[in-house]
Amino acid sequence: MSKQYTTVNLLKKQKTAWITLDRPQKMNAINAAMLQELSEALETIEKDSNVRCVIIMGEGKKAFSAGADITELQKLTQETAAEFSRKGQNVFSQIEALAKPVVAAINGYALGGGLELALACDFRLASSNAELGFPEMKLGIIPGWGGTQRLTWTAGAAAAKRLIMLGDRVKAEEALKMGMVDKVVSQNMLKSEAEELAQRLCTWSPAALAQAKRAINSVTRNLLELGLEKETDFFAQLFSENETKKKLGSFLGQGNKKEGDL
Ligand code: COA
Repeated sequence: MSKQYTTVNLLKKQKTAWITLDRPQKMNAINAAMLQELSEALETIEKDSNVRCVIIMGEGKKAFSAGADITELQKLTQETAAEFSRKGQNVFSQIEALAKPVVAAINGYALGGGLELALACDFRLASSNAELGFPEMKLGIIPGWGGTQRLTWTAGAAAAKRLIMLGDRVKAEEALKMGMVDKVVSQNMLKSEAEELAQRLCTWSPAALAQAKRAINSVTRNLLELGLEKETDFFAQLFSENETKKKLGSFLGQGNKKEGDL
């Protein structure tokens, strides 16, 4: 558990492993290094029989994660976009396949890939200032790390169409009503609530918990896998569009950008 990462922190407290996304100056945007380190941290956790539960959160007070790092998205071609999509999908599927419960503690923005990460977790706690959404339309793309599939399975097609096709960003209380999060708590209670939830989970038999997770996930697994393949194809196709390049290019380096404007 002592490995030093640069984009995530992995900390073991009693039977719970805390993974913190650690690029607060970039709203914990997920770049290739973070995906890789997240995957390595999950492998370490999987092998450690002392770890019974995982909590994932973002460093700082502003964001769980503002999604895929747009500077990396800008460089993609149709060919590399497919690989980019599969890489993210695989790491998030690793969370789903982990034989231990995973809790997302959403402190602030969970946008794009940040929301896709949270949706791959088994439980979602949100702080009252959390905002969830898929801003991909503004970038001329669609979610490519499982969001089109997992949001639809979690909250239904109507919610997925509203967030993805309209680009609506919802606050924590609304996300709760939509079934996207399990509980809303004040920001200063988020860590302790996540810890309490983890402790409750740690009281059950690890084998029973693991089998429950496997059994529940098996309901959607086959269709989810097919849907993920389609999502990758559709995501990658968009990188042949000039409009996508133009929109992605306009996010960074614009001096007059306001919050949420792309
Ligand atoms: N990728 C790369 N960098 C990102 C980022 C992302 N997804 N989200 C935020 N950042 C960077 C900003 O470029 C900025 O960097 P800088 O200080 O070097 O200029 C820094 O994080 C802080 O972000 P900023 O936009 O100044 O903060 P804000 O409080 O005004 O707005 C957000 C916060 C989350 C609303 C806004 O950053 C945003 O809309 N981010 C993009 C979200 C998105 O489209 N995600 C989906 C990607 S598929």
